[in-house]
Amino acid sequence: MIEQAYIWQNGLFVEKEKAVTSVMTHALHYGTAVFEGIRAYKTVKGTAILKLKEHMQRFNYSMCALGMSSPYSIEEMCQAVIDTVRKNTYDACYIRPLAYYGEGGVGVLPKEDHPIEVIIACLPMGRYLTADSVDVLVSKYIRIHPDSTICDAKIAGHYVNSMLATMERRGTHYHEVLLLDVNGNVTEGAAQNIFIVKNNEIITTPLGTILNGITRRLVIQIARESGYTVHERYFKVNDIINAEEAFFSGTAAEIAPIRSVNDQKVGGTGEIGIVTTHIKKCFKEITQGLVESDALTYLTETVRLEHN
Ligand SMILES: Cc1ncc(COP(=O)(O)O)c(C=O)c1O
Repeated sequence: MIEQAYIWQNGLFVEKEKAVTSVMTHALHYGTAVFEGIRAYKTVKGTAILKLKEHMQRFNYSMCALGMSSPYSIEEMCQAVIDTVRKNTYDACYIRPLAYYGEGGVGVLPKEDHPIEVIIACLPMGRYLTADSVDVLVSKYIRIHPDSTICDAKIAGHYVNSMLATMERRGTHYHEVLLLDVNGNVTEGAAQNIFIVKNNEIITTPLGTILNGITRRLVIQIARESGYTVHERYFKVNDIINAEEAFFSGTAAEIAPIRSVNDQKVGGTGEIGIVTTHIKKCFKEITQGLVESDALTYLTETVRLEHN
């Protein structure tokens, strides 16, 4: 337990209890915030942040999607994340950068000069999905439609969709929910992307209706480097049940094997398969710093982006 938690708030460290915001904050009324979820791992070479640059690039993309011009460069935001983890003295944690339209009138359209607030918090997080293999419920809610919003931006308002879907599993034995698109294709979990394994090939939902998951990209890279063929194509719930294996990927969930969907066991048995086990092992080796990888940024590093 750390004694005092600090929030990075608009460039300054503030004690968590003093990091407050107005009840007239635009984002509180209209969901106009964007955020990231990042993990710092305790590795054999010290604390390191997984895919920091990619997360801050997506953060910037999400801000642009809402018409926010970031007061900070991507490099500055990367450094601020590192500084926040250091300041809070965690050796492993979950990091939550958040940018939002602050107080500036009650109209839906933010003003041209609407204040933009940026904060970074970090908190301890163990396993997000605690079951070794998860039982999944298909939600009655469809995933937000790509023609209704910019659905690959990580916009706070989108998470009402995830939250309502997740509420359906309250009080049930299900560990997670799965959302379909308007055509009945599988999109993703409430906060994870999904993969299935069929005939030793790996299939994941293509970009379009899903969040462009950073763990998803890492899984695709690991799988291809391990010699597996990865297809990005649509599939249905029945394809999961008839697959040999299925798993979720996400920053919080990491690699989470799926045992069943709507109480139907994946591959007939619901057992964790060879491919999932392999991907999980490779992911763990990366996050523990056991293999050479550019996926980690150590707290002692300075982040530089490659500009063309
Ligand atoms: C809706 C949704 N899909 C997928 C993911 C996984 O994305 P990532 O691997 O970048 O954490 C998340 C997590 O942020 C999410 O909220």
